[in-house]
Amino acid sequence: MNLYHLFLKPLLFLLPPEKAHSLALTLLELPGMTSLFRQPASRNTPVTTAGLTFPNRVGLAAGFDKNGRHIKALATLGFGFIEVGTVTPKAQPGNPQPRLFRLPKDEALINRLGFNNDGLDALIKQLQQQRPAGLIIGGNIGKNKDTPIEAATDDYLRCFEALYPYVDYFTVNVSSPNTPNLRALQDKEPLTLLLSAIHTLNHAYPSPKPVFLKIAPDLSLSQLDDIVDIAITTQLAGIIATNTTIQRTALRTPPDVLADIGAGGLSGQPLRTQATDIIRYLRQKLPPPFTIIGVGGINNAPAALEKLEAGADLIQLYTGFVYEGPTIVTRILKGIANFSPAFPYAK
Ligand code: FNR
Repeated sequence: MNLYHLFLKPLLFLLPPEKAHSLALTLLELPGMTSLFRQPASRNTPVTTAGLTFPNRVGLAAGFDKNGRHIKALATLGFGFIEVGTVTPKAQPGNPQPRLFRLPKDEALINRLGFNNDGLDALIKQLQQQRPAGLIIGGNIGKNKDTPIEAATDDYLRCFEALYPYVDYFTVNVSSPNTPNLRALQDKEPLTLLLSAIHTLNHAYPSPKPVFLKIAPDLSLSQLDDIVDIAITTQLAGIIATNTTIQRTALRTPPDVLADIGAGGLSGQPLRTQATDIIRYLRQKLPPPFTIIGVGGINNAPAALEKLEAGADLIQLYTGFVYEGPTIVTRILKGIANFSPAFPYAK
């Protein structure tokens, strides 16, 4: 039991989830607040991968600070890297509310936010102001809802070009279940075209930046094999596995509650093993120096170690942060302090 579990979480969980999220971020900005949870830098064990030196292996997953408004405050909690976005070229409101739901019995969330964000220009303004020294910042890019899928590449290229001076790496998000048809971009042909276009633009710069692909956990093994081929041919730095799932298997939350919630991506504990299995599969096919960022259901140090032992170089979390609070970062850093990667990884 800590401050978060005793006071903050019971209060926040009384509110609708989206209100609680913005209140939590507002509270984090209050003077003195982050000092309650501040993480000593001495906990850091830097890791060099994808050509970047990360202060530590624990990152904040995309979607938590979509508009990059809270980077400084979040960085003080100990994250080695923060992925902002998903950003789209134009601001867009996302889907109608309610669109974020808690499944406390499963320590999970379901969201169908639909890339609500303030757009590229607003994100860039924030990145110009908030750049804590040493922190690695990733830019997670997507397409606007009203951009036809055939024109999606233009949206990704616009985001890439505009964000290039402000981020350390890019994540190409083709795996959100909440933008119609987006996940069709994971198919071999469109994905090869998209990533080749990004590669060409990236390599027109004197120092190209690492590009990651974020994939859904619902891909078949043959789709994963296609992803592996494409990752090699388009020279990706790595893969982020995984985004939220559209599956609803083996949940403690009753079916009628799930039916009332409706469509959306499920994150948290029910995703944990599924994401780990995908990481393990990918690592067999994509040995180092290819980078794998493991995400999905990490809520403590053993869950983080499970991802690292499956072959992830770095990890990210979102739902675990909501359920376990800000000290989760410190606890994971302590728990993984003695981790050193073993290759070849266990199957
Ligand atoms: C997300 N996630 C997400 N991912 C992404 O690439 N772009 C995004 O905009 C969002 N937005 C988003 C909103 C909400 C409310 C949630 C819960 C999740 C997915 C997230 O980054 C992560 O991949 C999954 O949630 C799995 O990790 P956790 O939550 O189980 O740690």
